Parts: sequence; structure tokens; C-alpha cells
Amino acid sequence: MAYINDNYSKLQASYLFSDIAKRVAAFTEANPGKEVIKMGIGDVTEPLPAVCRQAFHDAIDEMGTRDGFHGYGPEQGYAFLRETIAQNEFSARGCDIQANEIFVSDGSKCDCGNIQEIFSEQSKVAIPDPVYPVYVDTNVMAGRTGQNSDGRYDGLVYLESTTENGYIPSPPSEKVDMIYLCFPNNPTGTCATREQLQAWVDYAKDCGAIILFDAAYESFIRDPEIPHSIYELDGARECAIEFRSFSKNAGFTGTRCAYTVIPEGLTALDGNNESVSLHQLWNRRHTTKFNGVSYPVQKAAAAVYTEEGKAEVKALTNFYMENAALILKTMKELGFACAGGTNAPYVWIKTDAPSWEFFDRLLNESAIVCTPGAGFGTCGENHFRLSAFNSRQNVELAMERIRKAFA
Ligand code: MLT
Repeated sequence: MAYINDNYSKLQASYLFSDIAKRVAAFTEANPGKEVIKMGIGDVTEPLPAVCRQAFHDAIDEMGTRDGFHGYGPEQGYAFLRETIAQNEFSARGCDIQANEIFVSDGSKCDCGNIQEIFSEQSKVAIPDPVYPVYVDTNVMAGRTGQNSDGRYDGLVYLESTTENGYIPSPPSEKVDMIYLCFPNNPTGTCATREQLQAWVDYAKDCGAIILFDAAYESFIRDPEIPHSIYELDGARECAIEFRSFSKNAGFTGTRCAYTVIPEGLTALDGNNESVSLHQLWNRRHTTKFNGVSYPVQKAAAAVYTEEGKAEVKALTNFYMENAALILKTMKELGFACAGGTNAPYVWIKTDAPSWEFFDRLLNESAIVCTPGAGFGTCGENHFRLSAFNSRQNVELAMERIRKAFA
């Protein structure tokens, strides 16, 4: 007789964005003439940079020759990509990260979801609220929580992000073992200052915890004082793993390429209280369960770091940030309290209505899809998120419709 992993029974019925997609599909079916503008899921809309497409094409052509053909590549990624990442993303910012500390993968969602596998089932996990649901759900699946009651899982330490703390939680008073942080934040769009991040690094070092730092949105930071990487902070090499992605900066959501940084020398304890290298553990996992990102995709990703690529990526992120500015301006003028939108492609907006009720109103009255804050956690209630990933035309039209509905 086969038995299921009972932890799955603790999960909410479906993943947030699948839930939204179902409601939108039902609306579209009932209102075939209405043009729905999707500002829910943070999926990019603008074409891949020309330099990436060219590199992609060239690599495919290479694959069509006997000499240029590539079979299985190194699971951790080709040296050409790891080296250029280390140079451009880390050395250039004064971070001591080497190419062999970078593990190339097919997405940050997978890496953020899978990383917990190398930690003990008994680990005490701290997770922000609201939060990208992947961090919570994967820990539920792994059995690190009890049941869900009133939207919260027993056993997790929730780090509340509220208007009172400017949506930036401080370290808790109790000790934890694993800490998920995401800056620029999804969903609130807020960024921790250098001092706030340093407090997290100091706390983690103090209690021997590991910070799992999701920096998928770092390319949207415009304020020069805000750190792009956790490794810009003193001591982070001893307590942090960082996740990065090509999805949002270079438009790779459908192309798939990301990477995880695990410093050599970063350790956690085994059952005998002996230090074990997390770099080696992740390498063991990665080589067992993953066969590497395809050669053409890695070539396309490496093209991001050419001079032309840097300019194209800057133009892309600037474009989305102009959308964010438009959204922020409109919502503020309508009297909504907002966060985010200045160093992140998300605007986090407060509403008196329950967030799913607001979602339905916006969909039914204005044919606009937002993400209801409650989908990200209890503290997301009475909030909704608008994503700046869209065409200019759609953002302008959406803002027009919102003005009409809420003026
Ligand atoms: C979001 O909308 O929160 C993101 O698109 C989710 C993701 O990147 O997987």
C-alpha cells in the first residue's frame, strides 16, 4: 500500500497564483468581450534583450556542429557564466564571492524551494509575513510545521511586516535556525537599509542561524545606499546563502536561468555537533538531482554581462520602474497608502476592504487582476499588490480604469 506525504494535507488547497488564474479564467469565460489587464503575477512582458537572443542563436548553431556540440554540462554551470557572474555581480560591488561558489540553475523558485532539503527537519524557521508563498509551502511539505490555523502554521516564527515597521521586520527575540529574507521585497516592494540588514547578519551569526536571502529583484534598486547583495554586509559569508535570477532583469521567466551563491566555508552542524560544509551538501544535492541548465540558455545569460547586455538590461528595468512610478503616483493621488515601487517592481497598497473582496471588485468592475495581500500571509490582509511588469499601454489603461472606479 502506498501512503502519501501527509504534510501535503496541511497545505492550503492550491498555490496562490493558480488560485488567481482560476478566478481570472472564470471571469473571462463569463465576460468574453472584456479585456483583462493582468497586474497580478510578476511575469515580465518585454522581449528578451537582442544580445541574449543573438547569443542564444549562436549557441544553437554551435550545437549543430560536431565540434560545437555540447552534451551534459557541469551541473553547477559552465565556467564562462559562473566567472562573469562572480566578476560583475560580486567583485564589482566589493563582495568576496568566487566563481566556484555560484551554482547555476533553472530558476530561483526551485532553488528557494529546494534549499531547505539540506537542513534538519527539526530546524526552527523564521519567515516574513507577508511572504513569497514558496518559502512557507516547501517547509510545510518537508514537515517543519504543524497544522495551519487561522492562516498560520504552528511551529513557524512569523516576522511581521506591517505599516508600523515600514514593512521591514527586525530579528525576533527568540533564536531560530533558518531565516528567509527577500529584498527588494516580494510582495511589499520595500528594501532593508544597510543597518537593518547588518542587524540580521549579526543576529544570525549570534544564534548560528543561516539566512536564505532572496535577491531576485536586486536590479530594480535605484537608491545607491541600498545593498544589492547580502555579501555587502560584514560577516555575511559566515551566515548567508543568496538566490539570484535572470528572470526579472533580463526577462528570462520563460527562458529559465538563475543561480544560488553558497560561500565555501559556510557550515551548519550535523547530529554529532560537527560542522558540515553547506557548499558541499548543496553540491551533492545539485549533482544528484540536476543535470545543468542548457548550454544555449547559459550563453544567453552570459550575454547579459556584455556592454550591450548591461545597457539593454538597464533599459528594461528602467522601463518597468517607469511603470511602477505611474502606478505609485496614481494610487497615491487616489488616496491609497502605498509602499514599494521606488526600488522594486511591486507596489503594495493598503485598503479597508478584505483583500480577496478587493481583488474581486477590481476584477469585476475594472477587469484588472491584482494579487490579494492575504494570499501572502495574515499581515497581507487589507493590502493588495500591483505588479509593474506590463506594457506601458496596459499600465496606462489600468490606471485610467482604476481612476474611474475609485475617484
Ligand atoms: C510573483 O508574482 O510573486 C512572482 O512572479 C512569483 C515568482 O517569481 O515565482
